[in-house]
Amino acid sequence: MSGSGFSAIKVSEHVWWVGAVDWALRDFHGYSTQRGSTYNAYLVMGEYPVLIDTVKAPFRDEMLARVASVANPADVKVIVSHHAEMDHSGALPQVIDIIKPDKVYASQMGVKNLAAQFHDSHDITAVKDSETLKLGGQSFTFLETRMLHWPDSMISYLHEDELVFSQDGFGMHLATPKLFADENDPAVLLDEGRRYFANILLPYSPLVLKLLERIQSLGISIKTIAPDHGPVWRKDLGTLLGWYAKWATQKPENRAVVAYDTMWQSTATMARSIADGLRDGGSDVAVMPMNCMTRSDVMSELLCAGAFLVGTPTINNTIFPTLADVLAYARGLKPKNLIGAAFGSYGWSGEACAQVEATLREMGVELALPALKLRFVPDGAALGQSREFGRAIAAKLRERTGS
Ligand SMILES: Cc1cc2nc3c(=O)[nH]c(=O)nc-3n(C[C@H](O)[C@H](O)[C@H](O)COP(=O)(O)O)c2cc1C
Ligand SMILES: [Fe+2]
Ligand SMILES: [Fe+2]
Repeated sequence: MSGSGFSAIKVSEHVWWVGAVDWALRDFHGYSTQRGSTYNAYLVMGEYPVLIDTVKAPFRDEMLARVASVANPADVKVIVSHHAEMDHSGALPQVIDIIKPDKVYASQMGVKNLAAQFHDSHDITAVKDSETLKLGGQSFTFLETRMLHWPDSMISYLHEDELVFSQDGFGMHLATPKLFADENDPAVLLDEGRRYFANILLPYSPLVLKLLERIQSLGISIKTIAPDHGPVWRKDLGTLLGWYAKWATQKPENRAVVAYDTMWQSTATMARSIADGLRDGGSDVAVMPMNCMTRSDVMSELLCAGAFLVGTPTINNTIFPTLADVLAYARGLKPKNLIGAAFGSYGWSGEACAQVEATLREMGVELALPALKLRFVPDGAALGQSREFGRAIAAKLRERTGS
């Protein structure tokens, strides 16, 4: 592909964006990406060009065309791979074969993980944590960010441009023609930034807080944060850093997530009465029918919630599949500081609620009330009980959040 179809976009004095926008992406390893995504790669133009990360394999030629719009790809002498996951390294083996760089760098774990994924003979050099290298006349300092969110993850600081290549950190799945965050709708940035944090980074929240402290202690000036997904931040960096500090702390808010599904509407009716009870008690509530919402929607709402209510009918002695899915996913992402409860309708054996409670306990969710189980179709009194259940949860939320 020649360079004419795609071009690079200038980010800072030496840095150009040479990534790809994936408008069609709706499922990123089980995370529903409602607004698509981008795979950001960057070219640092110095004495010779340095390529920072690559893209998902099918976008290889688009990335190379963007590179070709500012430099001869054959002149790229160095590639830095910050993360071995396929959305950034998928094109790497072929790009190495095409460009033939003198050196490819990755973190120590990156060298191992790239080898375990590609099983090829490419020679990749490890950089150490805190190591500073002059590449193409520009100074890069590398910081390992193990388990943020893979063992191989690292970020780097380009001293000359006061720019952080932050990899998946500070990223979001958002396809947009506007490269810079300040050109995009702030409400969309908040929504997608939060969604990304909740679905990818949440289990590693303590490491996020440590990284924020480490960056602070380095005393470096940061003008630009250039992540590998979504927009580049050149203004309002305090807003972005503030979001991360808040999300990683997971302070519960006076807000409940009510996730449920239903076969014949009984559990759905209970969910609606419970939501009314929560509202009566002064709590905000996200009502989430799982026939039309995704596990990623639930995680995004849970990030700033204080209560997690799970409603399921009993089906064949167990939990309804959509809720089993939500619970399996949420358990892995380890949300903290939540109270919770189960509710639902059943016909005869009614095992589902106890199974939900067992999982909530395993997740460290504090059970605020015993499950509310109702047989078959709830009558007026039963719905009154459901509404009371919502009010009681709201009272507990108020106690915990002081609001
Ligand atoms: C396919 C199917 C399997 C069911 N299996 C059970 C069961 O194993 N144990 C039970 O207590 N109820 C079972 N039920 C009854 C439902 O739990 C009951 O009808 C309940 O009121 C449905 O609530 P919903 O209207 O929220 O779907 C089953 C119902 C269906 C349709
Ligand atoms: Fe990743
Ligand atoms: Fe990624």
